[in-house]
Parts: sequence; structure tokens; C-alpha cells
Amino acid sequence: MQRTHYCGDLNSEHLDQYVTLCGWSASRRDHGGVIFIDLRDYTGLSQIVFRQEVSTNAYDLADASRGGYVLQVHGKVIARDAENVNPDLPTGAIEVLAESLEVLNESKPLPFAIDERSYTEEKTRLAFRYLDLRRPEMQKRLQIRSQATQAIRQYFHERHFFDIETPILTKSTPEGARDYLVPSRVHQGLFYALPQSPQLFKQLLMCAGYDRYFQIARCFRDEDLRFNRQPEFTQLDVEMSFVSEEDVYALTEGLLQDLFGKFNGIKVKTPFQRMSYDVAMNEYGSDAPDLRFGLKLVDLTDLSKGCGFQVFAKVANQGGVVKAIRVEGGSQFSRKELDELTDFVSQYGAKGMAWVKLQEEGWQSPIAKFFKPEEQQQIEAKLGLQVGDLAVFGADAQSVVLPSLGALRCEIAKRQNLVSADDYQFVWIYDFPLFQHDPQTNRYVSVHHPFTQPNLEDLENYALNAPEKIRSRAYDVVLNGVELGGGSLRIHQPQMQQQMFQLMGIDAEEAKERFGFLLDALAYGAPPHGGIALGIDRLIMSLTHSESIRDVVAFPKTQKASCLMTHAPSTVALSQLHELHLRQTEVPSSH
Ligand code: AMO
Ligand code: AMP
Repeated sequence: MQRTHYCGDLNSEHLDQYVTLCGWSASRRDHGGVIFIDLRDYTGLSQIVFRQEVSTNAYDLADASRGGYVLQVHGKVIARDAENVNPDLPTGAIEVLAESLEVLNESKPLPFAIDERSYTEEKTRLAFRYLDLRRPEMQKRLQIRSQATQAIRQYFHERHFFDIETPILTKSTPEGARDYLVPSRVHQGLFYALPQSPQLFKQLLMCAGYDRYFQIARCFRDEDLRFNRQPEFTQLDVEMSFVSEEDVYALTEGLLQDLFGKFNGIKVKTPFQRMSYDVAMNEYGSDAPDLRFGLKLVDLTDLSKGCGFQVFAKVANQGGVVKAIRVEGGSQFSRKELDELTDFVSQYGAKGMAWVKLQEEGWQSPIAKFFKPEEQQQIEAKLGLQVGDLAVFGADAQSVVLPSLGALRCEIAKRQNLVSADDYQFVWIYDFPLFQHDPQTNRYVSVHHPFTQPNLEDLENYALNAPEKIRSRAYDVVLNGVELGGGSLRIHQPQMQQQMFQLMGIDAEEAKERFGFLLDALAYGAPPHGGIALGIDRLIMSLTHSESIRDVVAFPKTQKASCLMTHAPSTVALSQLHELHLRQTEVPSSH
């Protein structure tokens, strides 16, 4: 070994010992005849002192070195002078008096400082990711990620799950995104799809009798990216035979309790809250509600039907909804802030944001004049409005009001400092609709995926006349407004699976061509089964309080799905296209 100790491990117990350390020069201070270098490795840093009178050679080499140089230092651990002791640093009571120094490698001047304090633009960080990953903050995050995946594996092994790998070159597994395709060289004109999830394979493993499966699986989805989405990401994928929702809930709750206990030192309370999809949408405007604060949506549609404000009355009478949020103490909001909030909801398609401040003397509001005193009182009573409060309103189609007010309540909570980073509000959302109607194709598409069991009673009542009313046996686990994971009980009878395809406008021939292997497998004694997948990247974001998914992925892609370090995706040689039987018809665009 080239070293005897790690830089972050030295302390007063090592006084008078001779040690050899390896690492990167993090900073150098020259005091004329004495040079101090902070030597860093992944464990932390030690201060090294070079004195001309101890070793001229080491002193000269230290003098010629720069930040980022790779150094091997041999010397004696000594106590720092009292005035130089740094109580904030684990190694702050000691320093190493260097007797020799070897420069193992030089470094060009670093494009940014590698320390705890500096801010660097993300573009630069991603272009030099190998340097960005040297930063203590990033090393800590990836260390937690490594420890968490190990804890996850242990949790499942203890419960007798098999860890089984499933193919990456495969057939399309629909999860609602576009596929990444890989052309086949051997089979001209044919393509593999990268899996959007291991969904079908885990179901086949249940058919194969494996009973309990898990995998930490890479998934690929060509979709619009956001702060918590990557084109390739990692799922903790789980499937079990002969189970109900309760078994999946209990298994997942146990795991999350274990992880948040180990890594955040908090005792997560189980069982988690549960909320139906309808309640979540109507009261929080989202199927992933943040329950750390109130600011619920209150329905005023019926009240609005006969009111004097035509915008509300018209919407209420024509099938839309009118909803409001009571903001306690919100009359403090200035006109400017209310204008900002109006702009905020307009991003979600809202045509306006009516508001009322309740003062001692009554309504202060641009719409006060449209409401009779008794109408005003009815609204106040329905909202529980007190003097000093603010109410904000949305009136439009449900598909506009719910997302806009759903986002608005989170924005208001942020502005009012109602969101605590140490509060963990887990909730199961259940009773999702099975289908969603796609007006463009006039077809029903799965809300979760086509293999999810319908609620049998709903199926009987609505299959023929109103498929959008059928509920599914799907569930999501949500933490503080973020969907951590989702799953369902699956269809295990081939006839029912066929019926679902039919409802979705997939005829028998197409079903056979796309999913024949699944239908066949279900016909050979498939057990009842169900499972879940948790987004590992999102989980690690929560465990490390990271704002961006890119901060918990070693080599992430940008929002435009490119890698600023390798410059993927990139052009390929014509000969490669040729081999794959492909011809380029468009000039590649730059990133
Ligand atoms: P679903 O599509 O809900 O379910 O995905 C499960 C979880 O994966 C995470 N996730 C993502 N994370 C980062 N970037 C993305 N682009 C991305 N897309 C999804 C989310 C999500 O909750 N096969 C089903 C699971 C099942 O039914 O068992 C599935 O994939 O945290
Ligand atoms: P107007 O009569 O258009 O000047 O609007 C009066 C107030 O109602 C303004 O504060 C608008 O922001 C608000 N408003 C207009 N349309 C809507 C709507 N669809 N939903 C909620 N508020 C609205």
C-alpha cells in the first residue's frame, strides 16, 4: 500500500506516529520558510507542514506544487499550536510535519475550486464531472447512495427475495413514455427496445414460481425531463405472488422506515396515511399531495351557480369547477405578490386568480362588487375565512383548476415558510382510475400500465358505458409531494388481460404480436401476483435532501438528455449505420 492512513482519519491518538498519506492538494499557504498544504482524500483532509529546515527537498516540491496535484507525504503527526487548532475539523488538533514528499501526478489549473464552499455553474460541473465528484458534498451523496442500496439488498435478502436480472435488450414494455430503440444488425429492419421497466419479466418470474423477486434495475424512458426525472434511472423493482395490497404496503413501509431510520435518524411512523385518488385530486389538486401543510382546496362550484360574478357562474353552470384556498394570515400578501401568484397559475393555463382579503371592514377584493353580502358570508363560512386571511380562487375546467391550484398551494406554502425539511409525510394514494381517455386518438389508455387489475365491481358496472369510471388496484407511495413509487396487483387471467386490451382498442392480433408471450404465460397457471417499483434516485434525493436528481446520479444527463462530459448522444460512422441497415435522412442537430 502507498499509504498508512487516510487523510480524514488522523487525530490526537496518532501523535508522534510516522504516517504516509496520499491525496490531492486542496490548498497551499506559503508563510515564508513554512508551507501548509491541505491534503484531501475521500475521508477528509489533513494539514501538512513543510519546513525548510526539516527537508529542503520536500519544501521545494511543495513550493512548486499546485491545487489538484496528487501527493504522497511521509511525516510525523504533531500537535497544532493552540491558536491553530480548528475544532470544526476532525483532524483539526493535529498536523503532519513532512519529512518527504513525492509528486505522484501533476494537474492542470483546476477549472473550479474543489471544496465545501465554492459555487460553480452546473454546466461546468457536468462537463468536468470527474472533478465535481471529488467535491466532499458529492462524495457524501454517492456514499449514502451506495450504503442505501446495500441496506435495500439486505432487507430483501432477509425476507427471502431472489435478486434476478432481466434483459436490457428487449421488447417494448409500455409505461407511458417513448421507447429508446436499438437497431438489430443481424435482423435487418428489426429493433430491440430498452426496458421502460422490468414489468413483464417480473410477472413472468411469478409465472415461473419464483414467488418473491427484487432487482435494482436500470430503466429507460424517452420523456420530457424535469428536476426529478432522468432518461435512464434506477428502480427498486419488486414482485410477489399470492399477496394483497396490504402485503405490498407493509413490505414497503418496513423498508422506508429502515432507510429513513438508518440514514436520516428519524423514526417513520407506520402504517402510512392512506388517501383515495379522488380525495387527493379534489382536496390537494394532485395525485402526489404534499401533506406537510394544509391549504386545502375547497369546492365552491354549487355556491357559484347563482352568484353575480359571471366568470364563476358561467364555469359552474357549464360543467367546470370553482375552487378556493384559504390562506391563514394571507392578507399580508402585497399587490405585487398577488400579481406574481396570478402569473404563477397562468403557467398552468389558469385565466386568472381572483382573490379576497378579509378585513375588519369586509372584503377587499377586485371581485367584491359582484357578490351580495349574503353570498360573501356563504363563501366566508365555507372557507372558514377569518379577518386577516386571504382567499384565492380558480374557476375553469377541472383539468385546469386542479393542477393550477395544486401547484399554487405549494408555492404559497413556500412563501409562507410552512414547509419543513425535517417533516416526512408519507401517504399511500389508492383507487386510481384504470384508464384515461385520450381525445387525440379517441382511445382509452392505461393510467398505470395495461397489466393492472381493475376493480371488479367497477368493471362490471362501467366496462360497456363508462370505462373512465373503472378504478384500478394500483397504488403510489408519496413523500412530501413526490411520487416515490408505484405499483399494483396484476391481472393473472388471460381472458381478463385480453378484455383490457380490447377496452384499449388493441385488437387480438396486435395483442398477440406485442404481448403474446405474456398471454401465453398467463394461460399456464399464473399465480395471483402484485408488486411495486420505487425510484431509487428520488429516494436518495430525499435521504440526502438534494434538490436535483442530477446530484444523486454519478454521471447524469441534462434536461435535454445529453451528457456534457462525453457529448453523448453523438454521430456515428457511416459504416456503422450501414451495418445496422440504417440511412441518415436528417443532419444531426447539436446539443
Ligand atoms: P412507475 O412508472 O410508476 O411504475 O415507476 C416507478 C417509479 O420510478 C420512478 N421513475 C423515475 N425516476 C426518475 N426518472 C424517471 N424518468 C422516472 N420515471 C419513473 C418514480 C416512479 O414512482 N412497472 C411499474 C411498477 C409496478 O407496477 O410494479 C413502474 O415502472 O419514482
Ligand atoms: P376580470 O373581471 O377579468 O377583470 O377579473 C376579475 C378578477 O377575477 C381578477 O382578479 C382575475 O384574475 C380573476 N379571474 C378572471 N378569470 C378567472 C378564472 N377563470 N378563475 C379565477 N379567477 C379569475
